[in-house]
Amino acid sequence: MTLDFLAPAYLWVKSFHLMAVMAWMAGLFYLPRLYVYHSEIPQGGGVEHERFAKMERLLLRAIMGPAMVAAWLFGVTLVLTPGVVSWTAGWWLVKFGSVLAMTAFHGYLAASQREFAADQRRRSQRHWRLMNEVPTVLMIVIVLMVIVKPF
Ligand code: HEM
Repeated sequence: MTLDFLAPAYLWVKSFHLMAVMAWMAGLFYLPRLYVYHSEIPQGGGVEHERFAKMERLLLRAIMGPAMVAAWLFGVTLVLTPGVVSWTAGWWLVKFGSVLAMTAFHGYLAASQREFAADQRRRSQRHWRLMNEVPTVLMIVIVLMVIVKPF
């Protein structure tokens, strides 16, 4: 299903889609990095723990959350624009799958924010260094699929 009245706004919608994606990605790259350093701070509260907890909460709630919603809203508007997406196109199925994985990763970071805020350290520093690579790998796949459209 597509909506003809969306066609004239295609480039505007795509521009806002990319702006929202950039803000979302900035947070997805930075938040795991904050978790790497927060996991070094001993449990038991303290000034440093409070500072990291505040940075993580604001990054997630004030930037990443709204940016993810906007990326989805403008992205779905593009899907509903005539001639943009075919649900049998390989590039779109791989992109859409990777975007769902990116959204699940956002959810995992949000759940972990609540654990850190409660002064828990459930994962190792090495775990968060590895997690830091996830959005990079997904971004590479997404951008190559949507720009090159290889299949
Ligand atoms: C959140 C859900 C998302 C949806 C539903 C979505 C959907 C779309 C659609 C339908 C297009 C238009 C494709 C075209 O014009 O041929 C598009 C463009 C684009 N998307 Fe997304 N997208 C999403 C997330 C992302 C993410 C996370 C990234 C990057 C990490 C991304 C990067 C891009 C780029 C670079 C373009 C421009 C492609 C071009 O100019 O040809 N998108 N997106």
